[in-house]
Amino acid sequence: MSDPAPDVAIVGLGRVGLPLALSFADRGLRVLGVDKDAERLDAIAAGRMPFQEDGGEELIARVHASGRLETSARVADAARAEAIVLTLGTPSFSHIEIDMRDIRSALDDLLPHLRPGHAIVLRSTVAPGTTEFVAGYLERQRGLRAGEDVFVAHAPERIAAGRFLEEIDTLPCIVGGVGAGSGERVARLFEAFAAPIVQTTPVQAELAKIWANILRYTQFALPNLLMMDCEQHGANVFEVIDLVNRDYPRGGLAQPGFTAGTCLRKDFAFSEERSNAPGMLLAVSRVNESVPNFLVQGIKRRVPDGTLNGRKVAVLGLAFKRDTDDERDSLAHKLVRLLERELADVAIHDPHVTTPTQPLDAALREADVVVVAANHSAFETPATREALATLPAAGCLLVDPWNCLGSGQVFAFADELALSPAPPSSAP
Ligand SMILES: NC(=O)c1ccc[n+]([C@@H]2O[C@H](COP(=O)([O-])OP(=O)(O)OC[C@H]3O[C@@H](n4cnc5c(N)ncnc54)[C@H](O)[C@@H]3O)[C@@H](O)[C@H]2O)c1
Repeated sequence: MSDPAPDVAIVGLGRVGLPLALSFADRGLRVLGVDKDAERLDAIAAGRMPFQEDGGEELIARVHASGRLETSARVADAARAEAIVLTLGTPSFSHIEIDMRDIRSALDDLLPHLRPGHAIVLRSTVAPGTTEFVAGYLERQRGLRAGEDVFVAHAPERIAAGRFLEEIDTLPCIVGGVGAGSGERVARLFEAFAAPIVQTTPVQAELAKIWANILRYTQFALPNLLMMDCEQHGANVFEVIDLVNRDYPRGGLAQPGFTAGTCLRKDFAFSEERSNAPGMLLAVSRVNESVPNFLVQGIKRRVPDGTLNGRKVAVLGLAFKRDTDDERDSLAHKLVRLLERELADVAIHDPHVTTPTQPLDAALREADVVVVAANHSAFETPATREALATLPAAGCLLVDPWNCLGSGQVFAFADELALSPAPPSSAP
């Protein structure tokens, strides 16, 4: 073990924890990063980002050269630092309940090593009441009172992956401390960044984080449901959205698309698990989750003989959102599985992900159907449009819930695309 003691330990060097650890180190703090994933630790030790993050390569190179980030595979080592930030995953069980196993396991590893003065920060997204649970757990197991002996707070990560380096200095940092001194102690840690700090109660911090994501998840479910309604009524979803929004002060309907990812797909469950309106957010989830099946059924209605058996389907995009390499909880995977169950011959292209995929040309060549499953900016380029105009089979069906290709239709035929204007850019 090296000296001197780190200023802060970050437990869980994932998409949230690693950029945070690097950013603290870049601000001059001595940081200990902890992760159980040996491959990840090796990459970090070699000064390599294990995933894409804008500006991440330069940042890790700078921090690597500074020597201010050390790593460990043992959670107990985190207790060398006075401030311990938990950035572990908090998935949801399939029966709609937060899965706290990683948090519990880290707390249990830390328990014997905690001492008065320690600050424990929950940076992970958690269900309401979890921060108070952590404080209560420490008191029951070790007799350490939160706000007096140790400091416990929720400081939720609200940054979107890919925008970390910009947003860490601008997004208000919410701190919900337990007891008298916790908020102030944890605020001192985050003063390393330029963002304003907003103090509140632990449960309000928890609710603010999950409801920001519930808002987004619901905002995207509405145009997704409208897309399905439009199919039922023979209407064009993009035209209806334009009619809703155009010069209308109370408009603001979002665009349809694949709405998923590790956060949106599970954070609603942290409200739904003890809901006052059981099923409401579950319905939102079901709408977003049904988009791949909606597309497959729409394709089957349009292809000759209504079958995908033996037809080539090119899926463009495996990531869960635009221009990211993050495939976790992507609906593109669900789409691929559904297509395979129709005995389609599925070819996949994604320029960002680490999963091996085919080059664009190979995926598109002689395709009977092309589905845009992620709205990567690469798919909006003239080169992609050109490839789409020439490579697929005659009469190829283009399926584009994002309107990435500018056809202005969810289901269009390739020959219509050549006539369409330049595509708009779309959310989410
Ligand atoms: N990804 C995002 O964009 C984002 C944004 C805001 C909030 N969040 C929330 O932040 C939290 C972390 O998300 P993430 O995407 O960074 O997760 P992640 O899965 O990328 O990272 C978690 C890391 O913790 C490590 N880990 C797990 N158990 C461990 C243990 N016992 N000891 C040491 N390391 C351990 C894993 O190896 C992994 O590297 C979640 O609660 C998530 O909901 C994520």
